[in-house]
Amino acid sequence: MNAPSQSDPRLEQAAVTDESLLAAHEKVLGRRPDDQGHYRLLPLNLLFVFAGLIFFSGTYLNLYSGHFNPAIYNEHAKPHTGAAEAVAVDPVALGKKIFTGTCQTCHQITGLGLPGAIPPLAGSEWVMGPEERVIRAVMYGVQGAIKVKGADFSSAMPPNGKVPGSGFNLSDDKIAAVLTYVRQEWGNTGGPITTEQVAAIHAKEGEHKQWTSEELLKIQ
Ligand code: HEC
Repeated sequence: MNAPSQSDPRLEQAAVTDESLLAAHEKVLGRRPDDQGHYRLLPLNLLFVFAGLIFFSGTYLNLYSGHFNPAIYNEHAKPHTGAAEAVAVDPVALGKKIFTGTCQTCHQITGLGLPGAIPPLAGSEWVMGPEERVIRAVMYGVQGAIKVKGADFSSAMPPNGKVPGSGFNLSDDKIAAVLTYVRQEWGNTGGPITTEQVAAIHAKEGEHKQWTSEELLKIQ
């Protein structure tokens, strides 16, 4: 058996083939999976395309959604008939709200006020007395000595109506509502007071200053 010659072209060919195979394997094994394209990142320009699409859709919906607002959408809403619909507001319920927000800090939820400092509204002859007086008192405020249910007070109530110096700026209908409320609460027996009554006094007195009880007592 002859030893294979170094110059055997078949061996040379095999050796070359082995080397090239090894090199090829090395190349393949050395690669990380990412390089092979299996996990290619999203092309950046596609990202811009989607961002643009979202922006366009948002703008489109904003412009052409017919002012649809899910927060105020009412599926049972009836289309307007065109006629002005009178909204019935219960003056006592409205008055109670105003009393709680405006008067209660001083006159208290009990309507009893604070002895020696704030006069009571419960059982007060001022509250149930002539409408002409109580409207003026609450709209423009009262200052100085006042007698309520036999007790003396001498403090001041700031204006509550839409008049100069008022902290609350209650409109005429709100003054009417709060008066209607206090005149029937805590066992009080005064009748309701209308917006028209309040508006008439507002028009007549204009920018009157705070009243004194003396001035108010002259008004019948
Ligand atoms: C900052 C405290 C304060 C607020 C707020 C206040 N009052 Fe008075 N109120 C007084 C004081 C004090 C007097 C007595 C004034 C005086 O001493 O001259 C008074 C007097 C009155 C009187 C006449 C006397 C009586 O007790 O019947 C009525 C009626 C009245 N207030 C109703 C109201 C109503 C209604 C509101 C809310 C819209 C209101 N007040 C808000 C402090 C307040």
